[in-house]
Amino acid sequence: MRFVVTAGPTREHLDPVRFLSNPSSGRMGFAVARAAAAAGCKVSLVAGPVSLATPEGVERVDVTSAREMMAAVESELEAARGEMCVLVMSAAVADWRPKTSSPVKLKKGEMSAVLELERNPDILAAVNSKVKAGELDGSRLVRVGFAAETGDPEGEARRKCAAKGLDMIVANDVSMPGCGFGVGTNKATLFFPDGGRADLEMMTKEELAGEIVARAIALAGRRSCDV
Ligand code: CTP
Repeated sequence: MRFVVTAGPTREHLDPVRFLSNPSSGRMGFAVARAAAAAGCKVSLVAGPVSLATPEGVERVDVTSAREMMAAVESELEAARGEMCVLVMSAAVADWRPKTSSPVKLKKGEMSAVLELERNPDILAAVNSKVKAGELDGSRLVRVGFAAETGDPEGEARRKCAAKGLDMIVANDVSMPGCGFGVGTNKATLFFPDGGRADLEMMTKEELAGEIVARAIALAGRRSCDV
């Protein structure tokens, strides 16, 4: 079985020295990649700019922007054609990018005080379109997403689970102590499209990764029986 895991932030450059991004450390996605490799799966890790070592047995593809991440995910899913595959979208993809990007450093005098933005593609939506178009086999693809929210994540997580065609969404309240960006622990709730949920205890991101991988493999196993 294959895993394609995304991790970290994306960076949307305005020029070579300025960008829009977020504080994702990549630790959750790297832990998922490590756990999947330890479970004997072939793992491709599509990583945004992070300073983490590649887990043993994992093939890493480094990307910077959301559009690069989308292209890398699509190419890894293409390469997995014919195999059962789990896509884990743990990256914190930037939703917006500057409308224009300069290949050379801009002088502050050349810049406007108002930054014009345009939307980045939604990677899960792009994957779903390829499944609909018959370019990827949805019956062999388990999709896992993340929802980092502030406040009770259930409503938003269930909405995203349905809208993004997910088999499981890992939701957490990042305003809670011990959760979210830059900390080593997380308290997550898993939501499933059949209405099911699993409330997990506070645990390390490595432990949570093990839980996510075990559940994703179980979902893929059930899918294999249906194929
Ligand atoms: N995601 C994605 N492509 C994007 C943005 C997000 O595939 N351009 C994935 C994330 O990796 C995550 C899931 O979608 O697994 C939910 O991410 P989130 O940022 O919460 O979703 P958004 O649709 O951007 O939500 P919001 O409207 O709250 O900004």
